[in-house]
Parts: sequence; structure tokens; C-alpha cells
Amino acid sequence: MPTGGPINSTATTRQHHNLPSELKHQRLKAWVDEIAALTAAADIHWCDGSQAEYDRLCNQLVAVGTMKKLNPELRPRSFLATSDPGDVARVEDRTYICSQRKEDAGPTNNWMAPAEMRELLQTGRPDGTPALFRGAMKGRTLYVVPFSMGPLGSHISHIGVELTDSAYVVVSMRTMTRMGRAVIDLLGADGEFVPCVHSVGAPLEAGQKDVPWPCNKTKYIVHYPETREIWSYGSGYGGNALLGKKCFALRIASTMGRRAADADGLGWLAEHMLILGVTNPAGRKYHVAAAFPSACGKTNFSMLVPPAGYAGWKVTTIGDDIAWIKPGTDGRLYAINPEAGYFGVAPGTNHKTNPNCMDSLKSDVVFTNVALTDDGDVWWEGMTDTPPAHLIDWQGKDWTPEIARETGVDGKPRPAAHPNARFTVAAGNNPVLDPEWDNAAGVAIDAFIFGGRRSTTVPLVTQARTWVEGVYMAATMGSETTAAAAGQQGVVRRDPFAMLPFAGYNMADHFQHWLDIGNKLSASGAKLPQIFCVNWFRKGADGKFVWPGYGDNMRALEWMLGRVDGSAGGEDNVFGVSPRYDDLRWDGLNFTRQQFASVTSIDKAAWKQELVLHAQLFKQLEYHLPKELPATMARIEERLAG
Ligand code: OXD
Ligand code: MN
Repeated sequence: MPTGGPINSTATTRQHHNLPSELKHQRLKAWVDEIAALTAAADIHWCDGSQAEYDRLCNQLVAVGTMKKLNPELRPRSFLATSDPGDVARVEDRTYICSQRKEDAGPTNNWMAPAEMRELLQTGRPDGTPALFRGAMKGRTLYVVPFSMGPLGSHISHIGVELTDSAYVVVSMRTMTRMGRAVIDLLGADGEFVPCVHSVGAPLEAGQKDVPWPCNKTKYIVHYPETREIWSYGSGYGGNALLGKKCFALRIASTMGRRAADADGLGWLAEHMLILGVTNPAGRKYHVAAAFPSACGKTNFSMLVPPAGYAGWKVTTIGDDIAWIKPGTDGRLYAINPEAGYFGVAPGTNHKTNPNCMDSLKSDVVFTNVALTDDGDVWWEGMTDTPPAHLIDWQGKDWTPEIARETGVDGKPRPAAHPNARFTVAAGNNPVLDPEWDNAAGVAIDAFIFGGRRSTTVPLVTQARTWVEGVYMAATMGSETTAAAAGQQGVVRRDPFAMLPFAGYNMADHFQHWLDIGNKLSASGAKLPQIFCVNWFRKGADGKFVWPGYGDNMRALEWMLGRVDGSAGGEDNVFGVSPRYDDLRWDGLNFTRQQFASVTSIDKAAWKQELVLHAQLFKQLEYHLPKELPATMARIEERLAG
């Protein structure tokens, strides 16, 4: 039980608030004291994960101006946080994988030697430059946030402890993970945890007034894969600051999964994938895991509402962003969602594109960087066809359609919500939450889908004929960049496995890990999931999307499930099997053969050019590149030439 009152730490005079009286984990306590001393935190609060603690911190965030309470009649128990304009997205160019050997981070990650990074962050440089974390929490409370990624106590789950000086991070972590006192209990005297240190990098001098969104222009998001540590400095934005998500559940976990292969010969996978359940009218349930880059519709796909003509079909959500996938004793691949909430992109979400998401957002939400309506509710681009007549935009400025037009850039009106504005909401709010979402054993995966955002070239849906062909599709995936990461948008870049910003180790080794798992499982006689690649985003000559997307993606999904069962027809193309017009069901949608051709055609010239880009990727990743991948490319080249 919590002690309730503050007690003095033996190591310093710094007060520990809410320290669990039964805390047995001396290593954890010593580490907390060490980081508090390094960062000069004013005091320490041990989070218990209770509703009372959440409410108190939300009130505190309102008092300092980080959040506004929304109108409780319209959006009960919900808040709007608005960030510093320079702290709105993941910072990929400031994200480092600090493995001992540069080759182990690979050419797609930023790398610095661990010793050098530790000088920069923790110990200071020989030339006297102080460490960034030294004194970084001065004047602030250090919160101890114990969390479990995955159901508490599951053999698939892992525990982390985040030390942060941001109350916004604490309330977000409570929604996004299983957070609190039960995790401390589970750790016992010597349980393993991933240590995660986070500071917004904005120390407060005595008497200095705080700003609503403290952060630092200098940002470092750092991972030490060998010692499984995370250090994040300078940002309060979700992907940079909620360290259970991208940093732990993808970058550190992906290295853990691969290392585990050294011990058990198989290992496991941490992937940037949604997980959904889909039940057909006969009651047969399938489970599908799908990888798409950030802001390409994973949340929408995981909450898909089947269109008219699909009576009796049901899609249910297990996860919307991350999957941990482990081989079971029966040789099948079982997936869990390590998270407990959704940190999704708000703009574009509405009652047509994702009604289940809109219903999830009715109460108990923290919105970040959306616009505020005059009646104390939220709005973002795409929520309604006609915007409200007046809003306060995400930067606190007056916004009307007229002001937006006048202050727009490149002929586009100035958005009221930031394009990467987010909502943070518990999975329990989702009306189509799958009953298995919390199952500690995970769900058996029938199909993997890989999808990018491509205006041209890549057809609607293609089935890989073999596991290797599927790994090739995933490895060579390209996508147009979005607002989820700082930097230029709309530029096609290779995003292998949708993991480019999230792989904690060499991407070529990741390809090998997938091939090894496939080889070993099929050698044991196991039935592997089928692999597909999709593209919902092809555009016509008018620059508009041709495929209706959203609920109509069910048509492609039904075909994929038919291929899993061996019941759906298709024809070979140069890199897999694709449906003909009559292989898809069109009930309730007027989509012509000509439109179908324009989203499925394979333009040989464009594909020859595409293969040049695949070859460039393989050149970049030549160290440890599995030979199966250039061999697959050579076969596609032959078919294109034929
Ligand atoms: C996310 C992302 O926040 O991928 O999920 O950026
Ligand atoms: Mn994501």
C-alpha cells in the first residue's frame, strides 16, 4: 500500500512521495535515486496508476496551461493539450541506436558509440561540456512510471519503468500502457525492467515561471540495445516521450526478439502492425496483422466497418499500432498488442471514415494539437465537411475559414488542427474492441499485410506466392512521407516493413530474422501465415484517389481471407498473385472494370524504375543482406522482360 505521505530518501534529502511501503526492489530504488541526483529533480513521485492520481495530474496540467478541460457536457472527462510549435512530431533525425558496433545499428539508423553518447547525455565531455541530463529536471518533479507492455504477467509481456519530469507523459502512459502499483508488485525484489529516462530538458530556476509546454530545441531520442536502455531528451511529443511505445515496444523489443533467437533458435518479432479479428457470416474468425507506415490508416483499418453488402461480417480491434509476435508450441505465430490505448492521428477521422474511432472519442480523451470550438469541444480538418465559423487553432490563435484562406501557404488554407494532431484514449473505449485483445496467449495470425501510401505503381492487393516473396514485398515497401515525422512530406521513401524509423537493429538482419523464422517454422511442418501487399492510395489522372478505401477495404480483405482458405481466385502477376475484377465482391459499390484496372494495373516501365529503387535499397543494405532478396528481384526482372 502507498505510504500516503512524503518520506525522506536515505540517499539524499530529496523527498519520495507515494513510495510503495512494500518496495523490495533495491536496484530500482537505487536507480531512481541516481537519476534524481543526476537530473537534480526537486522531488520524486512514485505513480500508482490510480484514477485519483490521474485526475490530480490533469488538474495540475490545466492549472499550468498545458491542457484545457473540454466542455464536460459535450466531451466528458476530456482535455486538449497544445504543444510548443516546434514539438509536434517524432524527430527521426535526432533518434539514435547506440549499439557497440555501427553495423549492428545499420545504415538506416543514426548511430553514435555508446561511450560517446553517454558523455553527451550522462557524464559530460572531457572538454568540460556538461551532460545534457545533468540538472535537466531542476525545479521539477521526477515521476516514476512503472508499466507493463502487454497483459500483466503474460509470458509475452515485458516491464519498463519510465522516469520523467512531464506530468503530460504520466497521464498519457496511464492510458497507453498498464501502468501503476501492480507492476511494482510484479517486479518483486529483482524483476527485470527496461529503464527509460525522459526529460523535457527545461530546468526551472527558483521562482522561474513555467511555460505551458516545456521542451528544448536540442532533442535526443537514444537507445542502447545491448543494455536495453532508453534516454529521451528535449521533447514532450508522444512518439519521442511515451517511451513504452516506439522506443521500447518497437526499437528495444525488436532487438530483444532477435536476440531471443540465439537462445531458443526462433526468437520473436516486434512489428509496426495493427492486429484485427475478422469474423465471417459462418462464424469463422481470422486474425490479421498489418504493417503500414505512420499516418497511413492503421487505426482506420483496425476499426473497419464492413460496407453494405457485407451483412454478418464483423471486424474487431486487437491493436492499432504495434504487434509482438511469437511462435507458439503448435508452430503458429501468436500476436499480442503490447499497448493499452490508442495514440492516433485526428485529422481525417470522421463518422464516415472511422465511426468506431469517433465513438471511442466520446469521453475520457486527451487530444493534442487539435482546434478548440467556441462551445469547448474539439475540431480538426476532415471531422465535418463544413468547419465551424470560429475556432481557436492549435497554436491558440483565432481561426475562421476566412482567416485560414488569408494566412494559408501555397494556396492551401491554414489548418486549425496540426496535421499530426493526436488523440490518446484507452482501448476500453473502443466499441469494436476484440474480446481477445487482452488475451495473454495472443491470437494466431492467419495473414500479414504490408501496405504503403503510393499514388502510382503498386497495385491494390497482391498475394506473395512464398514466404520469401512476402519478405521481399515487405523489405522493398515504399511510402510517401506523412506529418507523423518532422521533415518533408509526400516524398516516396523505402520504408521496409513500415519499420524504417523503428528498427532497433540492422534492417538487413531484420530481413534475415523474418526469413529464418519462416524457414524454421515451415521445416517443422507448421502452416505459415499468408503474406500480402496492398496499396489503397493510387490516384487517377485527376489527382484523386481511385479506390474508395476505408470500409471498402473489406473487399480486398475478404479476397485475402479467401486466399488463406484457398477459396478465392486470382492470377499470377510479375511479383505475386492478384485478383481479377470478378474475384472481388462488388455488392453495394459502383466500381467499374476500368476503375479496377486503374488501381490494379502493373505498368512495366514504372516497375522497371521501381526495381532500380529496390536495387538502391539493397546496395544500401548490402552488409548482411540475405541473398534470397536479390534473387527474388532477379526473378521479377525476368518476368518484366518476358
Ligand atoms: C505513431 C507513429 O505515433 O507511427 O504511431 O508515428
Ligand atoms: Mn505508429
